Amino acid sequence: MKPVYTLADLASRDLLDFQCDHPARFAVIGHPIAHSASPQMHQAALDVAGIPARYIRLDIEPGQAGEALRRMRALEFTGCNVTVPHKLEVMAHCEVHPDALALGAVNTIRFDGDASRGFNTDGPGFAQAIEDDFQVTLASQSVAVIGAGGGAGQAIATQCCLVGVKKLILVNRTLDKLNMLLKRLAPLFPQTDIIVLSFDDPTLAMQCVSCDLIVNTSSVGLKSGDPSILPQECLRGTQHVYDTIYQPPVTPLLELAQGLGCQTANGRSMLIRQGALAFQHWFPGTDPLRTMERALRSS
Ligand code: ATR
Repeated sequence: MKPVYTLADLASRDLLDFQCDHPARFAVIGHPIAHSASPQMHQAALDVAGIPARYIRLDIEPGQAGEALRRMRALEFTGCNVTVPHKLEVMAHCEVHPDALALGAVNTIRFDGDASRGFNTDGPGFAQAIEDDFQVTLASQSVAVIGAGGGAGQAIATQCCLVGVKKLILVNRTLDKLNMLLKRLAPLFPQTDIIVLSFDDPTLAMQCVSCDLIVNTSSVGLKSGDPSILPQECLRGTQHVYDTIYQPPVTPLLELAQGLGCQTANGRSMLIRQGALAFQHWFPGTDPLRTMERALRSS
C-alpha cells in the first residue's frame, strides 16, 4: 500500500488495490495530504466495525477535485473526507446539505448510487468539542472568534450562529474578510448580535473580556516563536479558551490563558469529533469516537 495515492491511481482497481488485502473504499483528498491524521482515525474505526475496506490518502491538485470524486464514485467508493484546499471546490460537484451551504464548505462526501452528497462536520464537531471539553452548550456562550476571516474561522462563526449564540465577536487582521462574512451571516441569523473588529480596535480588550468563550481559529501559534494571538488584557480567569491548533498542544494563547486560571482545550477534540461525525454519515448508528481517540493517541 502506498503512503499517498494520486488521481492517476484512480484509473482502475488494479492500480489502487495492487497487493492490498482490502479494497480502497474511503479517502481523504487534499494537497498536500501526507500529514493528514484522518487515515489513522478512520482505518481504526473501520477495523473495529469489521468492515473490510481501506481508507487512503489522495493527493489531488487544485482544479482536479471534481474529477477525483467522479472516479471514486465509478470505483464504488463509499465516501471521502475533504481537506485544504478542496473544501470549496467540491461544492460545485456534489449535492450540498443546507448546513454545509450555510457553513460555506464541505469536508465529507457520501456516494449514494449516482449522487455525491456533501456535508460539513467541522462546525458540528466544534460544537460537540466545546460541550465535552467545557461542559456547557455552545448556544449558552457569548463567543469571540479570533482569525474569523480564515476558512476554519468562518465555519466556526457560522456554527455559532446556527446553534443560536446571542453575541458573537469576530476578530481578524484583514477587516475586509469580516465585512464580507458579516454581510452573509447578518441576514441569515438576525437573532445573533455580530460585532466585527480588527486587532487594533480600541474596544478589542473590552469586547473579548465580555465573552464566555474565546476561540483561536487563526494560524498564529502553529510555529515556534509565534506570540499569543491576544494580549493578556483580552482575557479574564473565568473564561473558556479554545485553540483550534493541536500541534503544539499548548499554544502561547493557551499558556497565557492557563496562567490566568481559564479553562482551556485544543483542537484535538474537534479533529476527533469531526471525524466521528463523518464516519456516522457513512455508517449511521455507529459510535466510533472512543476508537478514533485511541487511534490518534497511539499514533
Ligand atoms: P485560510 O484558513 O483561509 O487558508 P490562513 O491563511 O490559513 O487562511 O489564515 C487563517 C487565519 O489566520 C486568517 O484569519 C488570517 O488572517 P488574515 O485573514 O488577515 O490573513 C490569520 N492570520 C494568519 N497569520 C496571522 C498573523 N500573523 N496575525 C493575525 N492573524 C493572522
